[in-house]
This record gives sequence, structure tokens and C-alpha cells, in this order.
Amino acid sequence: MLILGLNMFHADASAAIVHDGEVVFAIAEERLNRRKHFGGFPSLAVKACLDAVGAKISEIDHVAVGQDSDANLTQKVQYALKNPAKILNFIRLRQRKEGLRNVRALLAKALDVDAAQLRFQEHHLEHHIAHIASAYYCSPWEKAAGFSYDGSGDFVSTMMARCEGNDIEILDRVFLPHSLGSFYTMICEFIGYKKYGDEGKVMGLAPYGKDTYCDQIGKIIGLKNGTFQLDLNYFKPLGSNQGMQVLPDGTVRLARHFSDRMEKLFGGPREPYTEITQRDMDLSFAMQHRFEEVFFHLLNELHRRVPLEDLAMAGGCALNSVANGKLFQTTPFRRTWIQPAAGDEGLAIGAALHTYHAVLRQPRRTELKHSYLGPEFSEAGLESDLKKAGLRYRKLDRGPLLNEVAEQTAAGNVVGWFQGRMEWGPRALGNRSIVAHPGRPDMKDVLNARIKHREWFRPFAPSILAEHQHEYFEHDHPSPFMLHVYKIRPEKRNELCAVNHVDDTGRLQTVARDENPLYYDLIQAFQRKTGIPVVLNTSFNENEPIVCKPEEAIDCFRRTKIDVLAIGPFLALKSEN
Ligand SMILES: [Fe+2]
Repeated sequence: MLILGLNMFHADASAAIVHDGEVVFAIAEERLNRRKHFGGFPSLAVKACLDAVGAKISEIDHVAVGQDSDANLTQKVQYALKNPAKILNFIRLRQRKEGLRNVRALLAKALDVDAAQLRFQEHHLEHHIAHIASAYYCSPWEKAAGFSYDGSGDFVSTMMARCEGNDIEILDRVFLPHSLGSFYTMICEFIGYKKYGDEGKVMGLAPYGKDTYCDQIGKIIGLKNGTFQLDLNYFKPLGSNQGMQVLPDGTVRLARHFSDRMEKLFGGPREPYTEITQRDMDLSFAMQHRFEEVFFHLLNELHRRVPLEDLAMAGGCALNSVANGKLFQTTPFRRTWIQPAAGDEGLAIGAALHTYHAVLRQPRRTELKHSYLGPEFSEAGLESDLKKAGLRYRKLDRGPLLNEVAEQTAAGNVVGWFQGRMEWGPRALGNRSIVAHPGRPDMKDVLNARIKHREWFRPFAPSILAEHQHEYFEHDHPSPFMLHVYKIRPEKRNELCAVNHVDDTGRLQTVARDENPLYYDLIQAFQRKTGIPVVLNTSFNENEPIVCKPEEAIDCFRRTKIDVLAIGPFLALKSEN
């Protein structure tokens, strides 16, 4: 049985294909059309899914969409009636969404087939149920607490659920305009980070600040009885899309979130690309602090209702790896399974798996143990692209390749590492990664100056052999998808100085050999040369979506100052090219 999952006309459009309950392929449209956070129809992603299983769209049994514009209609109507100025906008939005619901016609057009040939059954699933499904059904558990939170989706920002067997029982929803994601976005915008997806950058700024504004920022969100409420005086009225608009060409745009009250209290907003002042750092500190307080408050309430130790979680806010790393100390949850694509591209997997398990009542499958669900390329294809680019390269066997890449990394060179299937979700986890020495004091500046051009305050991440986690970090819970930040042990901070953030933490990826043998063996080869079972791992890209195809990796290698390109079994050196 083939189920196609979709996230469409929403940020991070994507497609995933599930074959007899197993996720066999998944990809965000941005990786294929090269437009970050693209929010249109994922035509290329759908084609890639079909190619991966060698099926035609006419052979698909079910199509599941992680969006249901009929969900929570009562709340939407009530909200519109309370805000008469928004009624017209609300009706227009409904009409547009209705037009976009015709999945059959959209797929027929994208794939240039006759709609009459399509025999699939269509399913629409509420946004946050799809988020929770994307985590729970991929987890190894038969029961768990389910949690999803983000800016907004189908008029909801937060959902709590009890997950058991095939079922996800919804316990609570927080409706718009109350949204922890919008709170975070509002302050990010105020301090000059106005683009969709900038929130992850600002998380790195928070530890540079101090507790100047925690009391004041705390007042923006009130906590009561296991839930929260925004003080709307700090926000512009955002409407039922919570200030996020997808333009007809698929571009995602954020409206201004903060009201004049923010300016009165904290002065003018920071303009992008101007100097970051202590005020901005202190605001980001207070924002992260309050975010965590609210998050832990919600999780403790969830645990009261679902007293289990296992937490299945997704939603854009679940990418807040700093908060994730602390939840073991501040809540009774002992294990997390967080969907690697916790943002909205993950809805495609969630909707498809929900159809399989909850709608069609099919038995659970085993845990999704890795995120390598994207395309891979044949050796012949890689070689032909290298030739086409006119690069000098050598072909090496596995052992010598690992040895030479480890040698280059140990010597302080920067390696573009392109292997196997592309990762699903926003993190590069050792298949589309740039790899470097984690213990050279200059490495962060070298990477930024030569390749990444990122904000100075953003840390780089470590990939560590799973067996060595406890020696280097103060927490043992694995972090296979780079979704937890832990303190680095004092005696190891020097050894990991290029990945040690200002607050002595690292957003680690734990690498187990059965999840990615080649990457594991590379880190081990590096350990043999340096004694350090860790490499610095950053995504293979330069201000663009992460590279997907070999030609994009080759182009990035040539354009930037990456020293070495290891692409499949082939090795190219900048010094020879
Ligand atoms: Fe979402």
C-alpha cells in the first residue's frame, strides 16, 4: 500500500511516501527548487517520491495532507466575529484555501496526467495532529505523551495528546492568537531578525545576554492552570494566519508582529544588519528564558495528564534544542523522540503515517532510526558531474578515503562531505555536511570567513561517537538528530573549543554506528589521529538550502574556500583545482 503525504501551500512544503507503513522517502521542496522555506505546491518533491518507489501517481492508494481548513472552524468564526475588520480577510483566506484543497486537480496538473486516472483516497489531517503523528508513529513506543507547538497551524499553536497503540487522543489545544511561537517570533523581529525561520539563529544570541528584562518580558505571557495566554497589547492583530503569509509564488513572508508598546518599553526596534547591542542580547536572553518557563509549565501539565516518561514531540518550536536539553531536569519526562523534521515539512510524514495507523488501522512498524530519507546518487553520476565540472579528483577505497579525510581534518582543513542519502529535516547529519576540527580555536572564524558567513554569535555543532557522549557532555540522553543542547564537561571544553558555545554548551549529534556506519567510521578515523571522538559538523551550503545534488556540492566547493571535497569515493583537493 502506497501513501503519499503532503505539506502544501504552507511554509516548508514537502512530500513523503510511505510503503506498507514504512517511510521510504521524504524531501522538502526547497532542496529541489532551491528556494528556502518554499511554501507553494511541492511538485518536484512529489515526483522525487514517486521515482523513489518506481510508482506512477495512478498507483498511489492514499494521499494525506497535513492541513485541514475545516478544523477548529468554530474558533475561527468566533475570532473573526470579534475582529470585524478581519472578516473580509477571513472570507478571502477561506476561499483561497478551498481552491487549494483540490488535491486531485493539483497533482494531475503537477504531473501532467488526467485527473480521472487518479484512484487515491484523500485525507486531510489537522496540522498539530500531523505534527504529533510525525513523532509518535516514528518512535519506538507503544504509548507516550504527545506534544506539538509552533507559531500556528489550523488556528492552533499548541496541542497535548495521549498516544497509545494506533491512536492519538487529543487532550488540549491552545487556540490563536495565543502562541508561544508567535511570542518568540515577535521578539526576534523586534531585534532585527524578521525572516521566516530566523528564530533558530537568535537562540544562539541568548546566552550573550543577561537578566535585565526577564521580569518585563515575562509579563507578555501569563501562565495559568497548565496553559498560557499572551498579553495582546504587545502584538499587532495578526489574523487567523498569525502573521505568516504565503505569496502566490511560494515565498513565505512574515508580517510585523510587535506593537508600539514594545517600542515604548524598549526603544526602537533594531534594523537588520546594524550593530547588535547589549539591549538586543538581553532581550533575546529574556525571550529564551520565558520560552523555557512556559514550555516546562506546559510539559509538567502534560505529564500530570499523561503520567509516562516518554515524550513524542514535534512542531517548529521543538527545534529549540536549548529548551529540549533542559527538559530532563525540569520535567518528569525521561526520554524524548523528536521528529528530525519538527518544522512543517514534517507534516507530510505525520499525515501519511496517521492515515496508515489511525485511519486504516494498520499495525505499528519499528522506530525510524535515522533521517537519511532523501535522494542518493550513483557513483557513475557523481563521477560524471566531477568530470563535467573539470575537477581533478582521485577515486579511493573506503579505508584510504576515511584515512585521508581524517588526516585533512586533523590538519585543520575544511572538508565538504557528500555521501549517501540526503537528510530529512533542517540538520545536516553527516551526509550533506561540512566537517572540520572541533578543537582549533580559529576554526569558527575560518568557517565563517571562508564559507558560511553566518552571524558571529551562532555556534557550530559537534558530532560525537555515541559511546563517548558521557565523557564529553553532562547528559546521557542521545541526540541523534542534533536536537538537544547539553553542557560540555569542564575538562573537555578546551578540546572542543570550536564547538563550545559561550555558555559552555554544544548542540550535539550523537552518532551510533548502526545509524550511519560511514560517518561513524570517519569520526573514529579522526579520533585515531587526534584522540578526539568528535568532529565539527555544519551543513553543506553557503546561504542557500543545504546541497542536495552532487552538482550543487561541487558548485559550493568551487565557489567557497572549502579545502577538500569528498563526494562518494572521490576526493578533490582545492590545492589541485
Ligand atoms: Fe507547524
